[in-house]
Amino acid sequence: MRKAVKLSLIPTALILAALALVGDSAKTSASSTASAAELFGAKCAMCHGRNGAGMPNWKAKGQPDFTDVVWQKGRTDAQIADSISNGKGKFMPSFKGKLSQEEIGALVAQVRTFGKKK
Ligand code: HEC
Repeated sequence: MRKAVKLSLIPTALILAALALVGDSAKTSASSTASAAELFGAKCAMCHGRNGAGMPNWKAKGQPDFTDVVWQKGRTDAQIADSISNGKGKFMPSFKGKLSQEEIGALVAQVRTFGKKK
């Protein structure tokens, strides 16, 4: 009797494990914050730094510090999106045609998160 109960638990455990796996992959693909951070890491961090504060050599050329609250207040989301699509000054490259509108929107949100850390 006891043995029968134990055996019947095995398929249930398998189903639960399978459900957990499915749930996990659904979570990863739906998480836009993770992908915006990854996108920033891949396309922007070499100049802006992982934390958005910027790199000394680029800051000397006029690059803003995204963790600066004053800088954050001085820009609208539309201005940030415009700088990402069209570039700015001599050194900020244009990402038009390289990133989709959704990706640019996600990067605007990513740039905003750097200002909220303090
Ligand atoms: C080659 C280095 C480089 C890369 C790569 C780069 N940036 Fe920049 N970025 C700069 C520099 C330099 C400035 C300052 C431009 C200026 O004001 O003259 C700047 C400025 C900016 C600004 C401020 C614009 C404003 O309105 O003042 C934003 C926002 C920005 N970058 C976002 C991004 C994002 C998002 C990415 C990745 C998709 C990125 N940058 C990639 C160098 C870079």
